[in-house]
Amino acid sequence: MYKVREFETKQLLHGGDYNPEQWLSMPEILDKDIELLTGAGINVVSLGIFAWAELEPEEGVFNLDWMEKIINRLWKNGIRTILATPSGARPKWLADKYPEVLRVSPDRRRMLFGARHNHCLTSPVYREKVARIDRELAKRFGSHPGVILWHISNEFSGECHCPLCQDAFRSWLKDRYTTIDNLNAAWYTKFWSHSYQSFEQVESPSPLGEIALHGLNLDWKRFVSEQTASFIAAEREVVREYSDLPVTVNLMYYFTQLNYARLAREIDIVSWDTYPAWNKWPLVETAEDNGFWHDVMRSLLKKPYIQMESCPSATNWQGVSKLKKPGLLMAQGLQAIAHGADADLYFQIRQSRGSSEKFHGAVIDHYGGADTRVLSEVSEVSEALKKLTPVVGSRTKAGAAILFDWENIWAMEDAQGPRNDDLHWKDLTLKIYHGLCRLGLNVDVIGEDADLSDYSLVAVPMAYQFREGFAEKLASFTAQGGILLTTFWSGVADGTDLCYLGPRPHGLVDVLGLRSEEIDGLYDWEENELVRAQGEDTLNIESLRGPYTCKYLCELPRLSTAKAVLSYGRDFYAGKAAVTRNTYGEGSAWYVAAHAGQEFFDDLMEYLAAEAGLQGPMGGSLPAGIQVTERTDAEHRYIFIQNFSETAWTVEMPAGEWKPLYGNPDEPLPVYGTLVLESI
Ligand code: GLA
Ligand code: ZN
Repeated sequence: MYKVREFETKQLLHGGDYNPEQWLSMPEILDKDIELLTGAGINVVSLGIFAWAELEPEEGVFNLDWMEKIINRLWKNGIRTILATPSGARPKWLADKYPEVLRVSPDRRRMLFGARHNHCLTSPVYREKVARIDRELAKRFGSHPGVILWHISNEFSGECHCPLCQDAFRSWLKDRYTTIDNLNAAWYTKFWSHSYQSFEQVESPSPLGEIALHGLNLDWKRFVSEQTASFIAAEREVVREYSDLPVTVNLMYYFTQLNYARLAREIDIVSWDTYPAWNKWPLVETAEDNGFWHDVMRSLLKKPYIQMESCPSATNWQGVSKLKKPGLLMAQGLQAIAHGADADLYFQIRQSRGSSEKFHGAVIDHYGGADTRVLSEVSEVSEALKKLTPVVGSRTKAGAAILFDWENIWAMEDAQGPRNDDLHWKDLTLKIYHGLCRLGLNVDVIGEDADLSDYSLVAVPMAYQFREGFAEKLASFTAQGGILLTTFWSGVADGTDLCYLGPRPHGLVDVLGLRSEEIDGLYDWEENELVRAQGEDTLNIESLRGPYTCKYLCELPRLSTAKAVLSYGRDFYAGKAAVTRNTYGEGSAWYVAAHAGQEFFDDLMEYLAAEAGLQGPMGGSLPAGIQVTERTDAEHRYIFIQNFSETAWTVEMPAGEWKPLYGNPDEPLPVYGTLVLESI
């Protein structure tokens, strides 16, 4: 077994998914690919992602020579290979001979052969067949100098409810709960007389049967993530028998089916695929939303990562397929680098002739020549990435963090509570994020298990689930001088979705100096407002005067030591505290009782960042759409300034000595423009 080496690259990587197996009978196309790719400065491809049928046309008959030729030729031409294991789509012979590899849906129907990403991850046969082809690939290419990384499978997703998965779920539950009584207690099965007498009776959630036990639903999701993690680990261990290369899996945008924090423990470097619907919504929103997920991805392993896929022009699966306006390809690629990625890759290198992705954008289109707008913009990105070589390996350090925790989202969304017509946790999180971004602050996005010692400001919006130890961690963070921001619908349930008895938020009432007593759901068209708190035990802050709007959910706290900063303006709870601050130890704990508007979070985050001693490199707050992030290495700081607003922006240089690494600081920064400064 090899000891894995760190992922290393001396240049920023630029390339994409490449499927030469579709063109083996047209060698002139493969020649042309090399010419076009080298001409455009492409230095990496991801190879073999869906090539299983070509690599193993019959069971046990391997045909890897074509791949070797391709890898060699790419390598000779300065293009490195990220080599995929092909387990994302299986060959027909495998499905026909071993039907157990076919996934079973929640309504207990076994699927037919077709599509992709639809196999049972438990099936020993599937695991064995995958291991076999992976072993062949690893033996042949695992120490090839042109191969730099293993791309395990593709975009893991979904779940299987077959008998094998049911058995595996039951043994996972046995390990977790030891006795059926423990399980019954954790899942609260006395409700509606759903108690189990043995583990053998447990079935995965199904629309035909049990969906009402929230503890079951939560544990099933955990199990599916565990099963996926164990599948990844199994593939990783096979390639590691012959190869010391690091491994990645490509993750997806706002994907909440699988706990990515769990999957990240099995890989060496994070990569993800991003397809923002640019120019559908205001640019600043799309850019920030994408920026947030970049931060989620980087924070998983807290080191440089890979933008594994993005579209070089228009996708073919969005409702309306919009072209990328000139300059946007560059902006999107550099946004990844700005948030800490060392690689900007596309789906796909060459557009396929047939089947379901034939109209998906590609670096090389059906026309097949160099004189296309897309290819010339791709070449410009290559040039920009070359200029940015010094940032390779540099890190993103953040003093502020926001909670995004998969298990919390699962539990909260399933809980049937004060608002089943959308809890709006995502917009709330993004409002807080926006408040920090406009100060030009780097932001980490963390789960409940994260170590908080790097941060002076931590925001935990709608942390419904408090797993064991989380409240204590927040308390000691605050006691030691941290600034904590909490909101309504927090500290409600434990890790098995049992509600905490006693005052809420569980374990934080002293820290916050209050308990929350009731929560009111508002219809979409209803609003309340937040106004300056009046009377005793209030704290008036000049920059937080309001009035601000609030909607969706309004919690009603009872204060002990907290000071009210704002209170509700309307309804029967007018005058009751809605935003509070409590001094706790060396720090302060804030509580926001309602889903307030963006203006509120802009003002609040500015105030909290100052309280936490955080300042972005540009000093004060930035105009909407100007994004500033920073990377650092042992010697330098690199500031990325990007314009996702509607107009050009005259750059105000940050304090200190800087030289431009990319872009010209003396000219206004155009829309989609990027300026990168390096400290001198
Ligand atoms: C995903 C997949 C790719 C391709 C693209 C299309 O990200 O990983 O294989 O289907 O979507 O956008
Ligand atoms: Zn299964």
